[in-house]
Amino acid sequence: MNNTIKTDGHVFTVMITDEQIRSEVRRLGREITNDFKDKNPIFVGILNGSFLFVADLIREMDTECEIDFLKIGSYGDHMHSSGSIRLDKDVSAKLKGRHVIVVEDIIDSGLSVTFIKNHLDKMEPASLSFATLLLKKEKAKVDFPIQYVGFEIGNEFVIGYGLDFAQRFRHLKDIYVTKS
Ligand code: IMP
Ligand code: MG
Repeated sequence: MNNTIKTDGHVFTVMITDEQIRSEVRRLGREITNDFKDKNPIFVGILNGSFLFVADLIREMDTECEIDFLKIGSYGDHMHSSGSIRLDKDVSAKLKGRHVIVVEDIIDSGLSVTFIKNHLDKMEPASLSFATLLLKKEKAKVDFPIQYVGFEIGNEFVIGYGLDFAQRFRHLKDIYVTKS
């Protein structure tokens, strides 16, 4: 394991290991299985960041489930979003009457997940729940419940396990942090 990454004047160090991620994803899978046993839930992974998390999460499900994807984009620089969000790719599945679980990599300001909730509510799902691997608890402004949270973190920038810095580092097995 490479413990430190130096790039563009930032130093990234390991914050959450591969093993810790695996055990937390297992716990979330058990919890979601209990809540949706025999309800055939559909996971909606938010691209690109959640692709690894959702792939690992559904393999921890011990009941039948389906998967679809939604892609959003936000204008901004590499570490800060501008607050304006657009829909890049909509879901393909019909969500009306389905139990839907949105899967995010990280909730930062909460703007993305709020946009997604407003968008998917219109499709009249039977239920709409949210799972996020990481939650920036102090920063996130979300006025609805996030049912499944892997790790609460501070107001820090992280990469790895799907999360990028200018599209780089998504492949890293561990999650790394930099202070600014
Ligand atoms: P929000 O709309 O501010 O909650 O931001 C959500 C999106 O911004 C996430 O889905 C990520 O794609 C990206 N993002 C926010 N914080 C980080 C971070 O610390 N590292 C990498 N991407 C991040
Ligand atoms: Mg994202």
